[in-house]
Amino acid sequence: MTYRFPTQSNLYRGESEPVKRPKEFACFSYDEQHQYHIGDRSMKWYYTPALGADLSQGYEDFIKHDDSIDEHLDSLLTTIVHHEKETKKPIDANIVTWRGMMTKIMAVPFDNRDGFEMNATLYRGAIFIEENNEYKKASKEAQQNWRSAIPQDVMQYWGYKFETLSTIPRPWGETSRDYIENRDSHVTNNKEQYCSVVRTGIGKSIICIGGEVDAIWDSKPNPTYVELKTSANPTSGRDEENFHRKLMKWWIQSFLLGVPKIIVGFRSPDGILTKVEEIKTMTIPHMVKSMGKAHWDGDVCINFAGAFLEWLRQTITTEGVWRIRSAPKSNFIEVFQVEQVGHGNIITDEFMNWRIQL
Ligand code: A3P
Ligand code: MG
Ligand code: MG
Repeated sequence: MTYRFPTQSNLYRGESEPVKRPKEFACFSYDEQHQYHIGDRSMKWYYTPALGADLSQGYEDFIKHDDSIDEHLDSLLTTIVHHEKETKKPIDANIVTWRGMMTKIMAVPFDNRDGFEMNATLYRGAIFIEENNEYKKASKEAQQNWRSAIPQDVMQYWGYKFETLSTIPRPWGETSRDYIENRDSHVTNNKEQYCSVVRTGIGKSIICIGGEVDAIWDSKPNPTYVELKTSANPTSGRDEENFHRKLMKWWIQSFLLGVPKIIVGFRSPDGILTKVEEIKTMTIPHMVKSMGKAHWDGDVCINFAGAFLEWLRQTITTEGVWRIRSAPKSNFIEVFQVEQVGHGNIITDEFMNWRIQL
């Protein structure tokens, strides 16, 4: 049995209901070897980068995380266990997932060029959603056949290099001048990450989301997080349209974790940092509308996600593993069962053993 949910944007028009502000309840870090630690040890502080920097510099020394390995929801579940042990009560979410999965879902009414596949399971009243790693690997390989003047790997490095150039590991008052001035010679390592875990709501569903946060503006306990992005300098009308689409992804991504600010590093075609701009996340949907020829609508994204999650909760009502699939360019999301019993590799033993006690 395959269940289908329509994704056409015109079905979800209209002002969205006010959305709860995401609230962080836990955080974790991966260190330079990508080892998990509870807490904020890998958090970085934003510090304005120097313009004119060459984002390709140091590419040969890039320490790159192998993202073909399937990490499932493991770190998110470990963090939830830690939180539940401290509070001695289970979290109340209906949906538990990575921010990346929610981003794909929210964007689908306007962007389904590549399609997606996820695995889901119902466990103790909540639906846990992970990426289907096989599908991710296959789409990546397909993308790599796409030729451009500058290798894809180098262009991807620019994004991480911009993070290295724009952050420091301690607040500026505790960081030496020397460190700040020599950020361009620091090795870029994307194994290291800081992740925030939040409780938020969309429509009638309470969601627990984990996602990477690039940097902090000030300091805890009331931190202002920032998202760092790079983008080519827009030159033609076509670039502008692409930029609008990019803005949608940036908005959704930051909106889901409650990240209020996005710092954009604009670059020349060959990767020289030319300009840095600050965008307030909240203003993006309005900004895009006021520029005319809007290609997307934030209210539709929210209305769609609310309706879809509610439907998903009515659809996935038994154990086993379910596939959530949206084929490239299709107008619906399909949901069907792929395993009749158990929870596949979505729920870890640690999580299961702890939850049984709880
Ligand atoms: P840019 O976004 O500046 O291009 P994030 O912005 O989510 O913090 O990710 C940091 C960088 O990781 C990105 O920098 C980009 O280089 C790379 N990246 C993220 N998602 C990617 C994807 N789906 N495909 C290729 N590269 C990606
Ligand atoms: Mg990031
Ligand atoms: Mg970023």
